Amino acid sequence: MSIRHPIIAGNWKMNKTIREAQDYAGRLLGLLGETTEIDVVVCAPFTALSTLKDELEESVIHIGAQDLSFAGNGAYTGEISAAMLVDTACTYVIIGHSERRVILRETDEEIAKKVKAALKAGLTPILCVGENLAQREESKAFAIVRSQVEKDLPDLSPADLKRVVIAYEPIWAIGTGKSATSADAQEMCTMIRSTLAGIAGAVADEVNILYGGSVNADTIVELMAQPDVDGALVGGASLDPEGFAKLVLNA
Ligand code: G3P
Repeated sequence: MSIRHPIIAGNWKMNKTIREAQDYAGRLLGLLGETTEIDVVVCAPFTALSTLKDELEESVIHIGAQDLSFAGNGAYTGEISAAMLVDTACTYVIIGHSERRVILRETDEEIAKKVKAALKAGLTPILCVGENLAQREESKAFAIVRSQVEKDLPDLSPADLKRVVIAYEPIWAIGTGKSATSADAQEMCTMIRSTLAGIAGAVADEVNILYGGSVNADTIVELMAQPDVDGALVGGASLDPEGFAKLVLNA
């Protein structure tokens, strides 16, 4: 029996108007409003967070953001601070998603600062790590992911580390409909956990490690049966509340 409470987080990415977010929240509440065996998280664009606060703040469904600034406040035009996310009832924040690493050239140094800013504000960071297809085919996947974990979580105390959630998202599985096998997911999550144990000792057993990359209501079943997979970070299959609810209920 795992000591970790499972988490299923939906990542809307750059989707949904305020009206669509309001409609989504109402429909999801009707389907999952009593769910307590799993922490359900909806990670929305910044523009929809206040709406989700109005709709979900008093519910069991958690609100998450998809990024934040490492800066506390001030002259950072266009940025959103951790305190601003707390102000919109966020409890989670995705950090270091591969789309930000690849498209926006986000570095491990910047990601590490964002993890610390999230923890300092009382948010739970969902740190994304994962290799690309070439690195997988060249048998470099373990080295790449190990390096990301080590560089993105520097000198965290054990107490802080156990507050971090890690999402293993092989880039070649994101948006492709081609998920990693549950065995591959388990193997990488085990490696991530052993890397964490090397950093902080036994507290590694308390860290939630999720899988992301073309997860759907069918593949979630075998993934959740893996001892080191503690949930999922879901993209496309989270965009429809009924489909996302089915995935959560199958988990
Ligand atoms: O953050 C989750 C996302 O990258 C996975 O996307 O559409 O493959 O589930 P998708």
